[in-house]
Order: sequence, then structure tokens, then C-alpha cells
Amino acid sequence: MPVRLRPMTEADLPQLTNAESPYENFGPRGPRTAPLDPSLTADAGGLTVVDDDGGAVLGSVSWVWQRWGPNPQSRNPMIGIWLAVAVRGRGAGTETQRQLADLFFLHTTVNRVEAHTDAQNLAEQRALEKAGFRREGVTRGAQWREGAYHDSHIFSILRSEWEGQR
Ligand SMILES: CC(C)(COP(=O)(O)OP(=O)(O)OC[C@H]1O[C@@H](n2cnc3c(N)ncnc32)[C@H](O)[C@@H]1OP(=O)(O)O)[C@@H](O)C(=O)NCCC(=O)NCCS
Repeated sequence: MPVRLRPMTEADLPQLTNAESPYENFGPRGPRTAPLDPSLTADAGGLTVVDDDGGAVLGSVSWVWQRWGPNPQSRNPMIGIWLAVAVRGRGAGTETQRQLADLFFLHTTVNRVEAHTDAQNLAEQRALEKAGFRREGVTRGAQWREGAYHDSHIFSILRSEWEGQR
């Protein structure tokens, strides 16, 4: 499915609602406003995912900056994605995450792009692998959701791997 990432606008928000995923039920939340919140832009960001053929809003991606050391070189983005129910399972998740990794490697100097998903979220695990990410391991009991802590799988793609698949 042809997709494109573009800056988020306020008009997108009503279409970027939460829920409709058992892995994203963190209780009542508003739309995905992080990219529009000036207080968060240094540490978080996001873009709207649109159909490249017509521009319909399909979902959003977001990221936070993870730190693996005290210096700026040891920071990397950890990405997240949400697509509307109607467009899932048609390749958009794979293509979107591939394009997001492209953006980071083309426009920043990061060596690593990271993703993190529930141990049972097989669709996201598969989409990440198809986008070139590699599974690294399990983060045990890391995420609180719906009354319990859940295990997650962590994935990454390194700049050298990204260069090798271009
Ligand atoms: C997860 C998500 C981003 C994936 O995007 P998508 O467009 O649906 O994924 P794709 O079509 O690119 O690829 C999904 C792959 O997973 C497979 N898959 C889907 N459901 C599966 C399941 N229950 N078990 C195993 N594989 C599954 C598909 O068959 C496909 O693989 P294939 O092409 O080899 O057949 C999307 O479904 C979504 O937004 N879900 C809700 C929010 C969410 O879970 N976000 C991630 C939170 S970390």
C-alpha cells in the first residue's frame, strides 16, 4: 500500500484516536498530540501517515529519544506506530516503518533506530522484521497496561544494516 509521512496538523487529530488495539489500551487518552505539543518536541515527535494516492489519513508514527549513555551520540529514537483498523494487514505498517527508519538515517546521524512491542503483538513484530529491523530480546515486565505488567520484544535496525538493504 503506498504511504507517505507528513507533518501532523490539528485537522488530523479526530482521525488519530486511540483504542482498537489490545496493545495500546493505556486507559482514556486524547488523540496523539505529541507532535503538536511544544513542551514535548525536544524529547518526542511524530508524523501523520497518509495514503500516497489521495492523501487520506491512515494513522500516525511517533518517537521518543532513548539514551544508552550520557553523551548525545548514545541517543537513539524509539519509534511507535498506530494505523486505523481498516488499513491494517495491507503492508502499510511495514512500508511506514521502513520510511521512518529512512528519515532518521538520512536526516540525523543516529546509528540505531529502535522499536518495542508487546510479546503477543505478532503483526507488529512481523511488520518490523519485514521493514529490516532485527529482534534483540525481551524486556521483561516493562509495560503496565490494563491492570498488569507485560513482557515486550525489542527490535532495532543499525545504520550499517540500513545501508546494506538500500
Ligand atoms: C501493528 C501494525 C502497525 C502493523 O501494520 P500492518 O499494516 O497491519 O502490517 P503489515 O500488513 O505491513 O504486515 C503485518 C504482517 O504481520 C502478519 N500478521 C498479522 N497478524 C498476525 C498474527 N496475528 N499473527 C502472525 N502474523 C500476523 C501479516 O500476515 C503480515 O505479514 P506477511 O506480509 O508476511 O503476511 C498495525 O496492524 C497497527 O497499527 N496495529 C494497531 C496498533 C499497534 O499494535 N501498533 C504497534 C504498537 S507497538
